[in-house]
Amino acid sequence: MKICVEKVVAGGLGLGRREDGCTVLVPAVLPGELVRVKVRRSHRSYQEATLVELLEPSPERRLPPCPWYDRCGGCDLQHASYPCQLELKQQILRELLQRHGLAAQVEPVLAPPLASEQELNYRQRIRLQVAAGRLGFFQAGSHRFTEVEQCLLARPAINRVWRQLSASSPWRRLAEQGEALEFSLDPQSGRVVLLLHHRRRPRPAEREAAWQLCRELAELKGIAFLPLGHQAGPFIDRQSGAQGRDGTEQLRLHFLLPAALAGRSLDLTAEPTAFCQVNEGQNQRLLARLFALLQPEGDEVLADLHCGMGNFSLPLALRCGRVYGVDIQAAAIRGAKHNALANGIENCRFSRAGAREGLAALHAAAIHPDILLLDPPRGGCLELVRFVGSPLPNRIVMISCDPATMVRDLAVLGQKGYRVASMQLIDMFPQTHHLETITLLRHHG
Ligand SMILES: C[S@@+](CC[C@H](N)C(=O)[O-])C[C@H]1O[C@@H](n2cnc3c(N)ncnc32)[C@H](O)[C@@H]1O
Repeated sequence: MKICVEKVVAGGLGLGRREDGCTVLVPAVLPGELVRVKVRRSHRSYQEATLVELLEPSPERRLPPCPWYDRCGGCDLQHASYPCQLELKQQILRELLQRHGLAAQVEPVLAPPLASEQELNYRQRIRLQVAAGRLGFFQAGSHRFTEVEQCLLARPAINRVWRQLSASSPWRRLAEQGEALEFSLDPQSGRVVLLLHHRRRPRPAEREAAWQLCRELAELKGIAFLPLGHQAGPFIDRQSGAQGRDGTEQLRLHFLLPAALAGRSLDLTAEPTAFCQVNEGQNQRLLARLFALLQPEGDEVLADLHCGMGNFSLPLALRCGRVYGVDIQAAAIRGAKHNALANGIENCRFSRAGAREGLAALHAAAIHPDILLLDPPRGGCLELVRFVGSPLPNRIVMISCDPATMVRDLAVLGQKGYRVASMQLIDMFPQTHHLETITLLRHHG
């Protein structure tokens, strides 16, 4: 069947129509292309298809730089030039705003996308599947394993360690019980930390294999185990020689925030099991944007309700009166407290709680933030935005990695009197359809 691709929709699929008007969704195509497709699955209102032949390719099409692109489920926009990827994402965002009745309000304040300086080699953390000792990714939308030898999105040091690891004998012993493996680059030392998702607690022979690996691979900073159903640990820090049976608190990744962002430089750290932003350059631009939007004044109170290890709360604390950080993850809050102490920041308080409960606890203590900062995971923060109530903060910043849940949550805030004052797409994840935005809302009481 031949179709003309009308647009690319959220999720990165191209949308075209059959002659009778039925929607057809197909990966790896671009708007304006005439393609021959084969239907793979039919649903009541649409069909899923695969690309068979490109009849009229788009001028924005390019040869995907990665040799595993057609098998690995990680990227889905490599066949588009980088300017075209940005345009597609902006269009996806506009369409979602339209569908939720927000287009008229947002269009005048929608800034052009902020491109990533690095289009490739930007990821400071990647997660691979382990299957019979081999490393790779699952194919898109499935649990079919594809062996891959490197990832063009990963920082070069990660790919070097990956190559050496695949050829090492202690790794083969460790991999027998491995389910997944995360590589994280420690930007400060330029070395890599491995987090091994293990099927059970590691035995002495596996701990010894981890030590051997640390001795063999010069670019390794350390290894931590994350056994299924158990607390993280043990860990080995090759640099300091430290090791521990439980926890991974002492094996930290260090991120230096330059002085230009917050007035003085900050050394922020994250445990290997805690969230950290994967694109360091874009994270710094996001932070610069946050400062520019908020222009925090000396005595304002800010609540960062998905604070992680303090990536935003700590630099903001240098400009605000008080900052309250909340996160549901214990490792994140341990990291945030450690970072506040290590950087001598005293006007911050961090507590472990769900965002809604954390905000309720602040209200119960008669603390009513002037500014809320929301940076939820992909599911968004519907429960929290429903809870936001009197006295209403005058500004809310929402940083989101899923535009569909973001527009849903914005609509709820709209019903409470908030208007979008600024929105911008920050391209954190080039080569993929994933889309990050920062939005400032002001209350019009
Ligand atoms: C996208 S990350 C952002 C973290 C931080 N703002 C940063 O930039 O590093 C989302 C964070 O939300 C936390 N989280 C997930 N669900 C939560 C909830 N219901 N309440 C509070 N925090 C939550 C996660 O542990 C994670 O640290």
